[in-house]
Amino acid sequence: MTGTAVEAMRVRRSWSKVTDEAPTHEQLVDLVSAAGRLADHSSLRPWRLIELRGRDRERLGRAIHKAEHKPGRSTKPLRAPLLIAVVARIRKGKVPDWEQEAVASGVAHLLSLALDDEGWGVFWRTGDHTRSKAVAKAHGLEKNERLLGWLYVGGRPEQRRPSRIKTVDGATFLSPMPR
Ligand SMILES: Cc1cc2nc3c(=O)[nH]c(=O)nc-3n(C[C@H](O)[C@H](O)[C@H](O)COP(=O)(O)O)c2cc1C
Repeated sequence: MTGTAVEAMRVRRSWSKVTDEAPTHEQLVDLVSAAGRLADHSSLRPWRLIELRGRDRERLGRAIHKAEHKPGRSTKPLRAPLLIAVVARIRKGKVPDWEQEAVASGVAHLLSLALDDEGWGVFWRTGDHTRSKAVAKAHGLEKNERLLGWLYVGGRPEQRRPSRIKTVDGATFLSPMPR
């Protein structure tokens, strides 16, 4: 674990290959509680997460191929022992949809950061099938729910060389308001 939130952000990275080790449900619940403390207009909590383990991932693979009009099942979901589907639950009212999707996306980013900081490997994945009917059905989504993709989570493999973290120059992305 790093010392501060800023340090955790600086050193985080995505892990495309992970091992079969995964956080337990209980470990995950704890981190989800922390990630859920993000800014949220009117505290709507417009999100939920779905844990996919074991054969759940095969069901997702079948749904992906159905969405892509292919036979059999995609092996993509088998790339990690745990997939966390990120779902935005859009509530009717004064808070626009985009704000609610921003909250759900924020939860996924914070949860990814927390998992990374705890030493797990995480990779956020999507695809053309993400908002397909077949994939929505496999996750039991309601009409007001939209999938934002999956956090693929697993153990970190031994690395032959240290990975390079892409740096970001904050000055490039920060400017004053034009006059
Ligand atoms: C919403 C979202 C969806 C993404 N979907 C994919 C994807 O399907 N395939 C992929 O290679 N990277 C995808 N990425 C990017 C990776 O998760 C990762 O951020 C990228 O490979 C850069 O690595 P880094 O996080 O270590 O800088 C997605 C990121 C986000 C935020």
